[in-house]
Amino acid sequence: MSTPKETPNASAPLDRGETHDVTELHAAVLREKPDPVEGFEPLNLWVVAGIAGLLFWGGSYLTQYSGRFEANEFSEYPHGKPAPVAAVAADPMAAVKRDGMLAYNAVCALCHGEDGAGKAGVAPPLAASDWVNADGPNRLMRLVRHGLKGPVKVNKDVIWNPANDPGIVMGSQWDAIGGTNEKLAAVLTYIRSSWGNTGAPVTAQMVADGLAPVKERSADDNWTEEELLQVPTSGSGAPSVAAAPTVDQLKALLKALPDDQRQDVLKEMSK
Ligand code: HEC
Repeated sequence: MSTPKETPNASAPLDRGETHDVTELHAAVLREKPDPVEGFEPLNLWVVAGIAGLLFWGGSYLTQYSGRFEANEFSEYPHGKPAPVAAVAADPMAAVKRDGMLAYNAVCALCHGEDGAGKAGVAPPLAASDWVNADGPNRLMRLVRHGLKGPVKVNKDVIWNPANDPGIVMGSQWDAIGGTNEKLAAVLTYIRSSWGNTGAPVTAQMVADGLAPVKERSADDNWTEEELLQVPTSGSGAPSVAAAPTVDQLKALLKALPDDQRQDVLKEMSK
């Protein structure tokens, strides 16, 4: 196919038979900015200001209320728990009981349990035990001092009978608890006032007096129930003058009383 040869004519615009000037039309299109693409819109200035404001407020809030991010800032006792002054004043035996509890948990609890409930096949309960709650601690201090063997009636419901396993005895606990009258008194005071038990406190003097008649007895010579029942629960070990509360303890007790009751006591005393 042969094309007719065109003769270029530089001075005359090409006549393509168009009715509009394309260049002019395109110029208008070229002036336009490109269409915005989604995701690139500038943020509304109010939103920016709002976020900046929130950040600023958050910062100042933390500065004011963060407590310097120290854990103890919100603790009830930021400087450690204060000694329970009121409790000590109200219960002059508190320190002794605590001492007794430490020894009990370290030594006796292995067999009798921290809750004093005893353990089947290991040791009888001390909670609600007639031995522990006796009015005087004479038998109690002996069996802890020299040990106990054989069947034992703990209370009207519990009878401990190690007959099937004569190997189960309680040896002397004297050395284990520290071997002093004070320690023994503390342990006994603790078990007599725990788990619902109601025995009165035991003093070191009561232990000294109570054990005096048996100081020659060997620690291996465990008591039997029969032998112990012949010992009066109190007597030589009965509360002596030393067992009475001291003047300071009485003062502390008086101070711990509510005002009206204290007045009553004082009135009673001055009659
Ligand atoms: C190795 C285990 C063991 C340890 C430790 C032990 N006991 Fe015992 N306890 C026994 C056994 C076993 C009996 C019963 C003994 C028997 O056969 O008559 C007993 C009996 C008793 C009883 C008389 C029975 C009763 O239930 O009331 C008392 C009171 C007692 N123990 C107190 C203590 C105290 C206080 C300590 C710590 C200073 C202590 N025991 C440590 C095993 C133990």
